[in-house]
Amino acid sequence: MRLLGRRALITGAARGIGFEFARSYIAEGATVTLGDVNETALAAAVAELGPMARAAVIDVADQTSIEAGFAAAIADMGGLDILINNAALFDAGPVAEISRTTYDRLFAVNVAGTLFCLQAAARHMIAHGGGKIINMASQAGRRGEGLVAVYCATKAAVISLTQSAGLDLIKHGINVNAIAPGVVDGAHWDGVDALFARHENRPLGEKKRLVGAAVPIGRMATAQDLTGMAIFLATPEADYIVAQTYGVDGGNWMS
Ligand SMILES: NC(=O)c1ccc[n+]([C@@H]2O[C@H](COP(=O)([O-])OP(=O)(O)OC[C@H]3O[C@@H](n4cnc5c(N)ncnc54)[C@H](O)[C@@H]3O)[C@@H](O)[C@H]2O)c1
Repeated sequence: MRLLGRRALITGAARGIGFEFARSYIAEGATVTLGDVNETALAAAVAELGPMARAAVIDVADQTSIEAGFAAAIADMGGLDILINNAALFDAGPVAEISRTTYDRLFAVNVAGTLFCLQAAARHMIAHGGGKIINMASQAGRRGEGLVAVYCATKAAVISLTQSAGLDLIKHGINVNAIAPGVVDGAHWDGVDALFARHENRPLGEKKRLVGAAVPIGRMATAQDLTGMAIFLATPEADYIVAQTYGVDGGNWMS
């Protein structure tokens, strides 16, 4: 019960890693608002998690939606102690074929979404004595990848925002840090695999198998592998941690 009585908002929590974060936070005693743009998946996710889970339809790429969604979540939970900026989009393709639409969409969700959700949470936390903000970065933000230029750039920006926001907000008692996963199994990676199958002319499933086998620990992560860090960064034990991005990747980036 390390998060007993804490109130958290997790964006992009209708499935995947965000959903698993919500489940783990509730198991630690928190009340969690799951924010997502996918209303059907969101309703199913909240129903599965029970009465400590709340739903907020939030499109993190839309400022009006962020403001309304955060206001509703804060009113509903009676405050906000923790934000996990988890919502993101992925795309892959050769640099010569990147479209302006893809670029704008990924930066709107992954970077502007992270910044303006962080801002909405910070405004509340500044007025209420502090809080914890955790951004979802990626190993992709620490290096380039030939077919993944835009997503990598968005995650590098998330690491940079974590550094600047962490330095600016700690004087208000707000710890901003980030988690950089490696490769995490789930519906997201099925989509990634399909993109690589197309662009690298591979059978479906091959990229995922190769990528998993190449992780030093010997397998892809599960979403549960990330929950320990997400819980820790939200506890008082992490009060002295500021502006950091932690790899939770089975050794993948280091290798
Ligand atoms: N899966 C991996 O291998 C991996 C690796 C490194 C980093 N990450 C990061 O972890 C986070 C979660 O990844 P995942 O694998 O669970 O992804 P996912 O695609 O399974 O889930 C993303 C969720 O975000 C929601 N979403 C998308 N656009 C949104 C928007 N505009 N507003 C609100 N919600 C929106 C989707 O509906 C979905 O529920 C992301 O930030 C991702 O970049 C994932």
